[in-house]
Amino acid sequence: SSPEAALVDGLIEAIPDFPEPGIVFRDLTPVFADGPALKALATAVTAPFEGRFDSIGGLEARGFLIAGAASIVSGAGVLSVRKAGKLPRAVLSQEYTLEYGTAALEVHVDQLPKGSRVLIVDDVLATGGTALAAVNLIERAGWHVAGFGAALELDGLGGRAKLEARGVETFSLLCY
Ligand code: PRP
Ligand code: HPA
Repeated sequence: SSPEAALVDGLIEAIPDFPEPGIVFRDLTPVFADGPALKALATAVTAPFEGRFDSIGGLEARGFLIAGAASIVSGAGVLSVRKAGKLPRAVLSQEYTLEYGTAALEVHVDQLPKGSRVLIVDDVLATGGTALAAVNLIERAGWHVAGFGAALELDGLGGRAKLEARGVETFSLLCY
């Protein structure tokens, strides 16, 4: 694996029984707290898509941290993909299913020019419900999804398959 992957992998902590018994939670806060590791992560998730995106779609909240860093290393700005009720102007809203109930992601309808190529970034790809909602939102807004990049993919939860079935090129630095 790459030096970036080794650096990030060495900082991720496995926390047993969070948020509930039986779940092993992969905590990326030590990666975000380490300047060189955050820069390596931002570089790694954008590199496969270099020259093929105009904007970085950051998914609230943890995706924002990677999106901001990726913006500085790539020169593209950040499209704010927010949880429902946070954006002040006209929005498009996309519901998605959580383990318990539903949530929604939103973007400002006119945030980017039509046809803009958006690279979506997030910390973790698990079931893919969040990422797929972002894909739907971006396409409904008249933009093009350039790809999806995550720090960590949790294998066996179907996220990658869902994205690839939608034709979304998917990259993850690490896979557990
Ligand atoms: C987490 C994570 C991803 C998503 C992955 O976000 O940051 O966005 O879940 O899960 P999925 O692939 O099954 O959809 P969460 O909704 O906990 O929000 P947060 O970033 O605000 O903590
Ligand atoms: N870590 C961080 N975020 C997550 C996880 C995890 O293990 N599973 C689902 N979202």
